[in-house]
Amino acid sequence: MRPSDARIRVDYAHTLDFIDAAAMDAAASRIRAAQDLLASRSGAGADFLGWVDLPVRARQEIAPVLDAAERIRTEADVLIVVGIGGSYLGARAVIEALRSPFAADGPTVVFAGQHIDGGYLRSLMDACADRRVCVNVISKSGTTTEPALAFRVLRQWLEQRYGKREASRRIFATTDAKHGALRRVADEEGYTTFVIPDDVGGRFSVMTPVGLLPIAAAGLDVAAMLDGAIAMRDTAGSTDPDRNPVLRYAMLRDALYRQGKQIEVLASFHPELSFVTEWWKQLFGESEGKDGKGIFPAAVTNTTDLHSMGQYIQDGERRLFETFLFAEESGDDIAVPEAADDTDGLNYLAGSSFAQVNAEALRGTSLAHLDGGVPNATILLPRISAASIGALMYFFETTVALCGYAIGVNPFDQPGVEAYKRNMFALLGKPGNETRRSELLAQLSRSGDAISG
Ligand code: PA5
Repeated sequence: MRPSDARIRVDYAHTLDFIDAAAMDAAASRIRAAQDLLASRSGAGADFLGWVDLPVRARQEIAPVLDAAERIRTEADVLIVVGIGGSYLGARAVIEALRSPFAADGPTVVFAGQHIDGGYLRSLMDACADRRVCVNVISKSGTTTEPALAFRVLRQWLEQRYGKREASRRIFATTDAKHGALRRVADEEGYTTFVIPDDVGGRFSVMTPVGLLPIAAAGLDVAAMLDGAIAMRDTAGSTDPDRNPVLRYAMLRDALYRQGKQIEVLASFHPELSFVTEWWKQLFGESEGKDGKGIFPAAVTNTTDLHSMGQYIQDGERRLFETFLFAEESGDDIAVPEAADDTDGLNYLAGSSFAQVNAEALRGTSLAHLDGGVPNATILLPRISAASIGALMYFFETTVALCGYAIGVNPFDQPGVEAYKRNMFALLGKPGNETRRSELLAQLSRSGDAISG
């Protein structure tokens, strides 16, 4: 890894007009107290702090993951990764950030089980009919409906296609060490298995085999990603916000939230980071949004969304702040060519790189939104690489832990995600939910049921 890749900076000049010195001092002391809670492991949810040392542990235990990934790369044209939420978004975020959508080497990685759409599964199986397939099914609980449904279909399809024995060789299960339906079936069928540690919650699990196996199977450098995270872990221990971008970002978020900025828009200027922002939404939404508190995390990808959501951000309700995500060094780039006729009037840009144009788009947007009353900070990545993405993910994980503690919630649970499941199971007639089913049907008949299906 290039050591500089992990040096993430936070430029916060365009927030200063919105936070007075007293508010910033108060935020700083709340975040420092949160840092102590995290370091002493004495805050809420302390049983779920496995993510703190995970990059170091994962680096030492990486060999079996790399072996399995190599087998997938040799034996499959397509890897279907089945999972939802924390068992899905991290792998997709890293793969989309680092692998060209046009890449032809190694297996194509596709995702299933992250919604309930039979048509999607049907087209996926049709598209894979003549291609060699492996499946990585990921579920910590082993009982989540969406991936369990998709896996039931894909497992039968693989068994019909390859026979039971070969299908079992082609299925890799990432799940709890001992419990759950997926663990049972994996042991019975002899799948290659990987364990999600008990002390790591779904949205913090990208650096377990949940993320590492699909990322390595996509041919990406998981060791560099972990090294980037390890470097950020060292940085995040500092108590000086001028040296520790985690502290700076956490303090800004806390101060802005207390000034009534209840919505944060994470605005990337790189389309390949669109799923990093999706992963970030889950991490922050599930960690902070509880007990009637928390910043609502929204995300846009610029400059694309400047032509849609840009209007609202510039000019709508003033309850939001913005965090830009920008890579300072671009990889492959092209320069704007000179055109003899200059009918589009772009010759003034001839010779400029697209990255230079993008940087001016960021500057212009930041100043315009500041004028519009939107405080904005910029997270500067040195470049988009495995190490910088590892560092960025660890940076966000630590930030959300501190911000969650600072607002007085447990950042590591997610009790709210159970409510829809209880209702869905009751409405589907799952045994044991009869009373709830009667209550819901009565409620639907009172309010009128407009949904058919
Ligand atoms: O963060 C979480 O805990 C959730 O998003 C879970 O990861 C998600 O619900 C999937 O759960 P499981 O891995 O148990 O299938």
